[in-house]
Amino acid sequence: MPSDGAPPSDPAPSSAVPPPAAAAASAGRPVAIVQFERVTKTYDDGFTAIKDVSFTIEDLPNKGEFITILGPSGCGKSTILRLIAGLRPQFPPTAGAVLVGGRPVERPGADRGMVFQDYTAFENRTVEENVAFGLECRGMPRKARLERARDWIRRVGLDPVRDADKYPCQLSGGMRQRVAIARSLILDPRIILMDEPFGALDPTTRMRMQDLLVELWRALQATVFFVTHSIEEAVYLGDRTFVISSAPGTILKEVKVPPPDRPAHVMQREPAFLEVVFSLRDMIERLEPSTRAGD
Ligand SMILES: Nc1ncnc2c1ncn2[C@@H]1O[C@H](COP(=O)(O)OP(=O)(O)O)[C@@H](O)[C@H]1O
Ligand SMILES: [Mg+2]
Repeated sequence: MPSDGAPPSDPAPSSAVPPPAAAAASAGRPVAIVQFERVTKTYDDGFTAIKDVSFTIEDLPNKGEFITILGPSGCGKSTILRLIAGLRPQFPPTAGAVLVGGRPVERPGADRGMVFQDYTAFENRTVEENVAFGLECRGMPRKARLERARDWIRRVGLDPVRDADKYPCQLSGGMRQRVAIARSLILDPRIILMDEPFGALDPTTRMRMQDLLVELWRALQATVFFVTHSIEEAVYLGDRTFVISSAPGTILKEVKVPPPDRPAHVMQREPAFLEVVFSLRDMIERLEPSTRAGD
C-alpha cells in the first residue's frame, strides 16, 4: 500500500477497468467515469472538510473531459482529489459513495495517475529512472522501460540526451514538474488527478506548462481533474469548472468555460477570455458571503 503523498506507484494493471462501465457502454448508456454521490468527509478530529458533494463525469469517447476545481485554500479540493485516488486519510469517505467506472473506489490504482504540487520524484534516481519507475513496478524489462521513458521525456519537452541522466536536484521547478507529469502519464491512466501542479511556478513557465498539458491531454483523451485557486488557470484549461465553497466544501456552481484552443499567452489576454474570468470572480464573490452567512 503506497504511503500518503507517495508517487503513484500502484502496479495494478490499467486493464482493471470495471465491467459495469463496459456493460453500460455496450448497452448504449453513457458511462460515468467518476461519480460522487452525496460524499461527506469528516476527519478523525471531527472536522468536516466536504459535505454532500455530488457530481457525475461521463467518459466522453475520443476526448475525455477536463474538469477544473476552483476554490479557496482549505475548502476541500485535495480531499476530493485524494478520495478519487483512494489515498488515506482522505479515503474512505465518511458518508456517500465515490465511484470510478461505476464501482466504489477501494484503493489506489494505475487507472488513476496523480500529480502533486511539490514535484514528486526520487532524489536518488535520474530523470530517466524516475520516469520509468511505474513500469519497473509492473516488471517491464529495463531496456524496454528506459526506451519508453526517453519517449516520455521528449513528450514533456525535456531533452532525452541532455536531461535523461540528470538528478532532480539539477532541474528547475518547471523541469521537475515535467518529470512528475511524465512519470504519471507513462502509465496511461484513464483519469489524471492534478493537485495545484503549477502553483509554485513563475507565470511564464506556468503558461508553457498549461500549453503542454493541453497538448498531452488531447493526445491521451483521458479525463482530467485539475485543482487550482487561479481563476485564469481554471477557465483556460477546463471544459467545466467546479466552484467549491469554503469548508465544509460543497459545489457552489458548475460552469462551462471556453476550450483552450489557442496558446495560453495569447488566449489569456483576449477580452472575451478576461470577461469570463471577471464574471466568474464576481460570481464567487456573490456566492461566498451567502454560504458563510449560512454557517
Ligand atoms: N488529515 C486531516 N485531518 C484533519 N483535517 C484535515 C486533514 N486533511 C485536511 N484537513 C482539513 O480539511 C480541510 C480541507 O483540506 P484540503 O482538502 O487539503 O483543502 P484544499 O486542498 O482545498 O486546500 C482543511 O481545513 C484542512 O485543514
Ligand atoms: Mg490542497
